[in-house]
Amino acid sequence: MIPRPELLTTLSGSYELTAGATVSGDLIDAVRLALPFLDLRPGDSGEIDVRLDPELGAEAYRLTAGSRGVEIVAGGRAGAFYAAQSLHQLLPDASYRFSERTSWPVPGVRIEDAPRFAWRGLHLDVARHFSPKREVLRLIDLMAVHKLNRLHLHLVDDQGWRVESRAYPRLHEVASYRARTAINYYREPEAYDGLPHGGYYTLDDLAEIGAYARARCVTVVPEIDVPGHASAILAAYPEFGATGERHEVLDRWGISPAILSPLPPTVEFLVTIFDELIGALGETPYVHIGGDEVVLDHWAASAEIVAYRDSLGLATANDLQAWFLRRLADALAERGARTVVWDEAFVSGGLRQDTVVMPWRGMGVGRRAAAAGHDVVATPVFPLYFDYAESASADEPMAIGDAIGVEDVAAFRPAPGEWTEEERARVMGVQAQLWTEWVQDLRTVDYRMWPRACALAEVAWSGAGGEDFAGRLEEHLGRLDAIGVEYRPPAGPRPWQRRRPHRASKVRVVDVMARIDGMTHDAESTRPSM
Ligand code: ACM
Repeated sequence: MIPRPELLTTLSGSYELTAGATVSGDLIDAVRLALPFLDLRPGDSGEIDVRLDPELGAEAYRLTAGSRGVEIVAGGRAGAFYAAQSLHQLLPDASYRFSERTSWPVPGVRIEDAPRFAWRGLHLDVARHFSPKREVLRLIDLMAVHKLNRLHLHLVDDQGWRVESRAYPRLHEVASYRARTAINYYREPEAYDGLPHGGYYTLDDLAEIGAYARARCVTVVPEIDVPGHASAILAAYPEFGATGERHEVLDRWGISPAILSPLPPTVEFLVTIFDELIGALGETPYVHIGGDEVVLDHWAASAEIVAYRDSLGLATANDLQAWFLRRLADALAERGARTVVWDEAFVSGGLRQDTVVMPWRGMGVGRRAAAAGHDVVATPVFPLYFDYAESASADEPMAIGDAIGVEDVAAFRPAPGEWTEEERARVMGVQAQLWTEWVQDLRTVDYRMWPRACALAEVAWSGAGGEDFAGRLEEHLGRLDAIGVEYRPPAGPRPWQRRRPHRASKVRVVDVMARIDGMTHDAESTRPSM
């Protein structure tokens, strides 16, 4: 099974579950939802009996299968849902297909299980290349199979805005679209595909995504990345920018100087957007506000912004950025949501204590955030940026760099042994990132995500990739085949998955890590000032 349960013992005896079997007890809706192909009917002393035991953690469960049927004891709805997911993995791979088969053998087994980490996340960049709603719902289904429970949607970047706004309709009308996309690699002459790209979720779509996810024990974490990465917003509403000038929705990659203004009208604009997002998604315990890769030059060049900074008694543009993010976090707290940021925002200082930090530039800055008392979700480029190729082979499809293999992910430890007990206790969990500059089509999302996300799920659930992970993964690929996931085969890409001809050369992950170390160093040693 993947992720590996804490304890699994095989027992003698087995049970034949047939379609229309009965389910009894508590939390039966979660079990029925997880196993739709069994067409389970509520009944007394069911063949699957589910009991709530509040002594267990909400996500924990015990499962016993034997000749008399299946007994589940769960700490909460999530525990019952995950017990059902484990039960499903005990059945033949064919149970992951739609079929007319009505009878499924359950081997005798006893499982005791609970997750090591509360935050078991996948991030998807829907700004650089849009994933339509149906793909997001499918990803949530795949997350459920793997007991992953946080879906971080990167909803805006320089290259696109991806949500309807009734208050600010030019966001979806103008900012969700670009006329073409760069296809040249770094330092190559500019080249474009000439193809329009766009798309956005309506608020009704977002409501559906939120509800669909909640039913499957997944929390959607929306990200509105500010104050940088703002070209698309400023193509629609230039008045919220530092210069007041209209920008274009960017059609190329890299860090842009486009930046929102920190003045009150921009804060009000963003809070209105938060209200629309939270109103649509429903219960939203976390909202991500970015804070990464901010170029503060346009703030320094604006007399109005400098005067505003002075009026607040703040010394530097960096202090003003910290103040701006803090105001947004306070507004989110009033709405019942905790703020999540990338690690630059921690380095800028001034965060609310309850702000969750995602250290993408490495676990060094993650440790400092943990030591400062912030909850941390481990998100380092290596090995959790799934936009990197799995190997350095020239056959791999175009990627931002290489190489991050499934074994690198399985070897990752979100709460390293050399950290203090207090620092380790701050690690809420772990999350993989799929940025989509080089993921132009949805088949490539599958290829990049799986099976590395299986390794992520194992690390997130068990705290570590189990020694027998490789063997279990081989079996698990049969389930992914049955579901129809176009994962990367262990031996490398299939002919149609190979790289399309392109002039580009890739950067090695070691080079990128050196660059990131440099950025971390810069972030620590120089505080930008006006
Ligand atoms: C990031 O990769 N800029 C979070």
